[in-house]
Amino acid sequence: MITTMDITISKAEQSKLKDVNLENLPFGKFFTDHMLEADYENGEWKNIEIKPYQPLLLSPSLAVLHYGQSIFEGIKAYKDADDNASIFRPKDNFERFNISATRMQMPTVPEELFMEGMKQLVTLDKNWIPNKPDHSLYIRPFMFSTDELIGVRPSDTYKFMIILAPTGPYYSKPMRIYVEEKYVRAAKGGVGYAKAAGNYAAAMYATAEAKKKGYDQVLWTDAFEHKYVQECGTMNVFFIIGNTAITPSMKQGTILDGVTRRSTITLLKEMGFAVEERKLGIHEIIEAYKANLLFEVFGTGTAATISMIKELRYKDFEMHFDVDKWKTAPLVKSWLNDIREGKRPDKYNWMVKL
Ligand code: COI
Repeated sequence: MITTMDITISKAEQSKLKDVNLENLPFGKFFTDHMLEADYENGEWKNIEIKPYQPLLLSPSLAVLHYGQSIFEGIKAYKDADDNASIFRPKDNFERFNISATRMQMPTVPEELFMEGMKQLVTLDKNWIPNKPDHSLYIRPFMFSTDELIGVRPSDTYKFMIILAPTGPYYSKPMRIYVEEKYVRAAKGGVGYAKAAGNYAAAMYATAEAKKKGYDQVLWTDAFEHKYVQECGTMNVFFIIGNTAITPSMKQGTILDGVTRRSTITLLKEMGFAVEERKLGIHEIIEAYKANLLFEVFGTGTAATISMIKELRYKDFEMHFDVDKWKTAPLVKSWLNDIREGKRPDKYNWMVKL
C-alpha cells in the first residue's frame, strides 16, 4: 500500500486489460482495474481510497435505493499521438457536480478530492485510455446516500466514487427523433439542471414509447405548453437556422449546463456563427424547415459528443435532413476531437494534462 496525501492506493494484483479489446468498445460496459471510494460521515469526507474495482456490499435499507438521492458526472480522458493523457474540462464537471449535490440536499465534494482523486485514478489506469478516433476513457464520478434508514429525510452519510470505462461512440448513427408532447423531463423549479440519477430514470418510459414508434430518442418540450424545446435524449440540442446557431437557454433551470454544449458554443462563435441561447419554439423550427433555412440539428453531450439528427417528427409532421451534406456539426466534432487528441491548439485551455 502506498499512501499519498489523503488518498490510500492499493493496486490490483493483475490487470484485466488483456481481456478487453480497446479497438471495439460498446459504451460503458467495461471498467478499468481501479476505482475511487470515499465516505461522508459526521460532516467530513474520510476513508479516501483508490482500490481494485470491485462490487459494493450494501444494506437493503440503504436510503438511495428507496428515495434516490444520487447524482453523477460524465467526463472524458484522451491520449495524444505521443501517448500523453489529458482530461477534458474536468473543473467544469466538478463545479456542476456540486451544483447537483446542493439541489439534491447532499454534501458538496471538496475540489481536491474530486480533481486529485480523479487524476490519480486516471493516471493509475492510463493504459486503458483508447487511442482511436471517437474513443476515450469515460470517467464517471457519482455520489449516493448511504444511511440505513427508510424514513424520508436527507441522509447523514454518503459515498462518493469514481469509476472508469474505456468507451467507443455512444450514438453511432445519425438519429431519428420524436418531439415529445405528452411526457415531461423537467419543469421550472424542478431538478432538470441537476445531473440527478432520477432524471434519467424518469426519461426511460417516454424514450421506450418513442422507440416503439421507430425513433431513437425524444426531443423534450416544456412542461406547460409543450411548445419550447429543451433537451434531446441525454444531450443538449443545437439548431442551425440561417447563419445563427440556436440552443435552448439555461434560464428556466430545466436543462443541463452541458460542458460539450459550452464548448460547442465557443467553437461555433470561432467559426463565425451568431449563437443565441434562448427559448426556441417547435413552430419556429417548423417554419425555418419549410423556408429551407433549418440547415442542421444536432445534439451535444459528453457521452455522445456531437450527434447528428437526421429526422425530427412533430405530431404528423416529419422533417428530414440530408446529414451527408452538413458542414457545421462535423466540423465542431472534428475540432473538438482534434483539441482532445492534441492535433489542434488548445487555445481555451480545456485540456488538463496528467
Ligand atoms: C454524458 O453525456 O456523460 C451523460 O451523462 C449521458 C449518459 C447518461 C450516458
